[in-house]
Amino acid sequence: MDQSQANAKVVVDGNTFELPVIIGTEGERGIDISKLRSLTNYVTFDHGFGNTSNCASAITFLDGESGVLRYRGYPIEQLAEQSSFIETAYLLIYGELPNSDQLRHFSESFTEHSMLHEDMKNFFDGYPSTAHPMAILASMVCSLSAYYPGIDMLNPTKEDFDRIVVMLMSKVRTIVAFAHKKSLGQPFVYPRHDLEYIPNFLNMLFSSPTHQYKIYDEVVQALKVLFILHADHEQNCSTSTVRLVGSSWANLYASITAGICALWGPLHGGANEEVIMMLEQMYREGGDVDKYISMAKDKSSRFRLMGFGHRVYKSYDPRAKIIKKSAHDLLKKLGIHDPLLEIAVKLEEKALADPYFIERNLYPNVDFYSGIIYKAIGIPMNMFTVMFAIARLPGWIAHWKEMMESPGAKIGRPRQIYVGMNKRDYVPITKR
Ligand code: SDX
Repeated sequence: MDQSQANAKVVVDGNTFELPVIIGTEGERGIDISKLRSLTNYVTFDHGFGNTSNCASAITFLDGESGVLRYRGYPIEQLAEQSSFIETAYLLIYGELPNSDQLRHFSESFTEHSMLHEDMKNFFDGYPSTAHPMAILASMVCSLSAYYPGIDMLNPTKEDFDRIVVMLMSKVRTIVAFAHKKSLGQPFVYPRHDLEYIPNFLNMLFSSPTHQYKIYDEVVQALKVLFILHADHEQNCSTSTVRLVGSSWANLYASITAGICALWGPLHGGANEEVIMMLEQMYREGGDVDKYISMAKDKSSRFRLMGFGHRVYKSYDPRAKIIKKSAHDLLKKLGIHDPLLEIAVKLEEKALADPYFIERNLYPNVDFYSGIIYKAIGIPMNMFTVMFAIARLPGWIAHWKEMMESPGAKIGRPRQIYVGMNKRDYVPITKR
């Protein structure tokens, strides 16, 4: 990040103040307002932080206008095609692609940490079979801190951090798989040491004492692509939440739990589940997409076209492009005909030709087609968002690490503009 020669000038109350301009490695420019309040006694106001950077980050670059997304400089198109989820996770967290020894050690450590403490199995006895998996995931991840010591935030060590990275990434699979088995009333299937990350997860999800799930390469490949594409996305709602919670030196388990909860919202990671529910409703009504496009344009309704629109992408989300093709390929290879995919394609075509969506640069986002793949694999709809959480975990961890290591890291504490009542005296209840 360079300090530009140019400065920004702010004129308030007739006085002119110069503020430094910073330039990122891709030419993004920011006005550094760190001293604005002390200089002018003004703060900024930016509803939803659409114009505000909360940090300088070297992890992910995205250009919403051009539909560009890179992890540590590598285009996601290349990573999705040539990398693995574990390798991409290593890249995001540690900044460079691992060599073969580093990758082998990283992958082997997932095996070592894949089990949950046996006492943690008892937690599942307390949940009803109808518990939403995101509720279970959030509480179980936070509870890991009760069984596995965290990082001493006053004396953090690389060894502790490295240990917790693999524990979190490895155990979330086990937690999600156990939650799925709990919902089915089936016995838990334990992780195996002879299976890699995604096949191990699929086996825990779908095998049982009476049935050995057959792991198809096509399914592993489709899930690998989905996990890589969901692995990070710079300062989205849940990642900024992880950074903000971590800025108080809350431990990594607590910070990740906060990210899981933020992701759950239907405007964020919960959208993938909402998309399928929306498509199924359209299917039940004979595929009438026009009705839903009209509803989405009707300001008097809270209805939104789920899986459409994005705060940053004002062009086609590059991830949606890859996921759409992956969905077509997987259904073809598995010989599945899913009418929801046809409805989704029809809906996209109609919306992209509609002035309302064109004027607002509303395109399919990462959530629009991902549920089609999860459904084809046999993932229940209420587990779509925990799949997003498993995939986003390396991104959350990478940002927590970057925030902790950034020089002069401060606790996040935004200001506000107060618009409440002015000073008034207490009125005893006898006089109200
Ligand atoms: C993710 O931030 C990230 O990077 C997130 C994510 C990641 O990887 O972490 O990419 C993952 O969360 C993807 C988004 C998933 N959510 C959805 O698909 C839910 C549906 N989408 C919308 O709710 C909305 O598009 C958001 C939440 C995604 C973005 O909202 P913004 O940036 O606040 O946009 P906005 O609400 O200001 O919308 C601008 C206009 C408004 O109309 P006007 O007031 O100008 O008339 O566009 C309209 C909105 O009403 N609009 C939509 C719409 N999305 C925006 N209208 C109908 N359907 C939609 N989906």
